[in-house]
Amino acid sequence: MNNLISHSAAWATLKTHQQNLAQVHLRDLFAADSQRFEHFSVEACGVLLDYSKNRLTSETLTLLKQLATQAQLADWRNRLFQGDKINHTEQRAALHIALRNRSNHPIKVDGFDVMPEINAVLAKMRQFSDSVRDGTWRGYTGKPIESIVNIGIGGSDLGPAMVTKALKAYHHTRLRDYFVSNVDGTHLGEILAELDPETTLFIVASKTFTTQETLLNAKSARQWLINQLGDEKAVAKHFVAISTATQEVTEFGIDSANMFEFWDWVGGRYSLWSAIGLPIAVMIGMDNFEALLAGAHELDKHFETAPFEQNLPVLMGLIGVWYSSFFRAPSHAVLPYDYALALFPAYLQQLVMESLGKHVTREGNSVDYPTSDILWGAPGNNGQHAFYQLLHQGTHLVPADFLIAIESQYDLPGHQDAVLSNALAQTYALMMGRTTEETKQALFSKGISGDELLTQQLPHRVFEGNQPTNTLMYQKLTPKILGTLIALYEQKVFVQSVCWGINPFDQWGVELGKQVASTLLPALKADNVYDGHDSSTAGLLNYIKTYRS
Ligand code: F6P
Repeated sequence: MNNLISHSAAWATLKTHQQNLAQVHLRDLFAADSQRFEHFSVEACGVLLDYSKNRLTSETLTLLKQLATQAQLADWRNRLFQGDKINHTEQRAALHIALRNRSNHPIKVDGFDVMPEINAVLAKMRQFSDSVRDGTWRGYTGKPIESIVNIGIGGSDLGPAMVTKALKAYHHTRLRDYFVSNVDGTHLGEILAELDPETTLFIVASKTFTTQETLLNAKSARQWLINQLGDEKAVAKHFVAISTATQEVTEFGIDSANMFEFWDWVGGRYSLWSAIGLPIAVMIGMDNFEALLAGAHELDKHFETAPFEQNLPVLMGLIGVWYSSFFRAPSHAVLPYDYALALFPAYLQQLVMESLGKHVTREGNSVDYPTSDILWGAPGNNGQHAFYQLLHQGTHLVPADFLIAIESQYDLPGHQDAVLSNALAQTYALMMGRTTEETKQALFSKGISGDELLTQQLPHRVFEGNQPTNTLMYQKLTPKILGTLIALYEQKVFVQSVCWGINPFDQWGVELGKQVASTLLPALKADNVYDGHDSSTAGLLNYIKTYRS
């Protein structure tokens, strides 16, 4: 029996409903309900979600809730929170919610409460980050640390890099942060050129401690430090590690006393709440890091308890399913009108696409509907002068999230009003568009008429509108609000995974490329002409061999 959700009655009803709604314009929905904003917005955990500018009605929401019920969303949510091994292909729980469980109630994995070990690592992070910040942790030559270099990739890079950038206003004034992820020597090389070895601390972050890029970067950084300071003993004062793999860390040459532990039930892209957040704690202080955790915890409690119709991640997840599965919109844009969130779209790309980019259900059946959105985005105001043309007049349906801070981190006269007016103008224009008649009037008023108006100008100046947006608004990007926003998207992804019946916590899709790379490495090093793999791969490899110096 095929138990794909797409074969359910709830899915079929939504399909018919979408066909009816496809021709309805957002203008009409607003015209029909003068209180649409009041009816389709909800506030929780310091975040206002206005989802009124979406192509949906209250009937849509009722039908989407039926789909969530069909998918057993409430049951899967319970399983997530109680530490069941819902990442079944790796036989692991997905307990990032425990890392930020500030109410500290017991959460068990295999019968053991994980909270005491989480709290012990948090205490160790506090002690270490305090000592770096107050200057009592000294480098090998006795100087306080000034530069923090995180070496990691994927989840061991994107989360901490995004958060430290977002919370730059909270940084310790003596400290500078750097993130090395790419294995291209340019990345590490450019950063090393800026560093003083006597005042630099390297944080090697890798859940597995087997990731090729991270280990190579860490090895080169270690050698650079030893060359600069002339003594291998310097490593102990300039290198710490964050990992689940103690043996690999010590084999690499970092003392286990300088290691911060986390656990296999923390997925890489869900790990910034764990010791992987150490660079965050060092840069903004442990109190602020704990505020980040508190914001996420508040969202978790909201997700766990709020009714579906007032539940931010449930609403956002269901709206995401609506566009992806029923409108077949292939992508989703995230557009922060908050420059501090410049790296948020890049961070979300891993969270969303590594979690939801799956082609089979939990049971291993091929899906017959698209799964993950292709997530993309950039700070809104810059985007307006780059890719918004496509949003306004292109041919794709691109649902977008606008993230808007009422206050900026830096209160420069006139700036924030410019940000806010642009953000509101864009969601309005995307929704309303500009009809043929309105465009004609606008051209007339500029003195354009006749043939020029009708054939040369008019078609190019009409805006279809009807582009859907969510607006997420908050007072100011504090550590707590940032924690809430990140957890909101994590739980939104979880809701979508449940609706589509897929496991969002594994990532087997990244393995094949890694395996092939390991077979090509020896071929690159060998002197002979290569004739393996296919003619293109061999041809390119031999071309490299011919032309590299
Ligand atoms: O290759 C993808 C991935 O496995 C991510 O899921 C993970 O965040 C990243 O690599 C880094 O892995 P690690 O922390 O083990 O170095």
